[in-house]
Amino acid sequence: MIKEFKAGTKIDRILLVRLQKIGNSSNGAAFARGLAEDNSGCIPFICFEAGTVDKLRAVTAPKPFRITGAVDINKFAGDMSLQLIVQKIQEVLPSDDVSHLMPKGDFDLEECEEKLQTQIGKIKDKGIRELVAYVLSGETYRQFKVNPAGMRLHHAYVGGLLQHSVAVAELAEAIAEKTKGANKDLILAGALLHDVGKLKEISSEMGFPYTTEGRLLGHITMTAIIVNEAAARFDNIDDIVLQQLLHIIVSHHGEQEKGSPIACATKESFIVHYADEIDAIMNQFKENGEPAAWEFNKMLQRFIYS
Ligand SMILES: [Fe+2]
Ligand SMILES: [Fe+2]
Repeated sequence: MIKEFKAGTKIDRILLVRLQKIGNSSNGAAFARGLAEDNSGCIPFICFEAGTVDKLRAVTAPKPFRITGAVDINKFAGDMSLQLIVQKIQEVLPSDDVSHLMPKGDFDLEECEEKLQTQIGKIKDKGIRELVAYVLSGETYRQFKVNPAGMRLHHAYVGGLLQHSVAVAELAEAIAEKTKGANKDLILAGALLHDVGKLKEISSEMGFPYTTEGRLLGHITMTAIIVNEAAARFDNIDDIVLQQLLHIIVSHHGEQEKGSPIACATKESFIVHYADEIDAIMNQFKENGEPAAWEFNKMLQRFIYS
């Protein structure tokens, strides 16, 4: 496991390769660098072997390879961090086990599925309830159970989107109960659907790469399109109710500077936004019972004690 790598460790194992750059060093020799990953973590790699660099040129999406190399301290990093010096890469064989590359969340999928159905069942408005059930059905639901909620920053593991969506709905529901006049139906529907466009933004393939559609439109726009198109099949949803639901979706990042085309303007949208933020932040803290330690967190851009 990458988590156990130490300076001097010799490597001959299958890791996921995420290529970042191919270039020439000052002496003209070609090099490749990027990240090597398994489900315990990731380590930067560098490669100066001409033949291997050539093979890496063809890598356009995250891809598993059998890597031969050694772990060393990166003298240029300044913080004694480790890097992997890659000597050789080989294609993975169909008989190779690559299950250690898919990140797994520490949660009960079946329990989460039950909670999702319970949350949908709590939506009193028939039209909205049917809309949510319709969006989260069939092929979309199959993907919803396996996709991550983020490529790297939060819930970046199999089933992460389902777990995150249910957690946001539960948190938002708890806030709604303490808030006078908040429309619980809209809050539950908005929370359960807010990130559904991530199914199209992030592929469930190895390494969770962004799709072209995802890069071009982003999950907020894609979620709004999915929900709006689905709503066209129902004639029992009020226009203004649908607009408020779409508002929750497009404003769920809170502010325009954070990627929402419009800032929160309703009670319900603020509630879903803060529930979303709380769940994404809480997911940064590890729950594996290991003693707390300071570590730099990429999403929060600060050290956290976790
Ligand atoms: Fe989001
Ligand atoms: Fe979210």
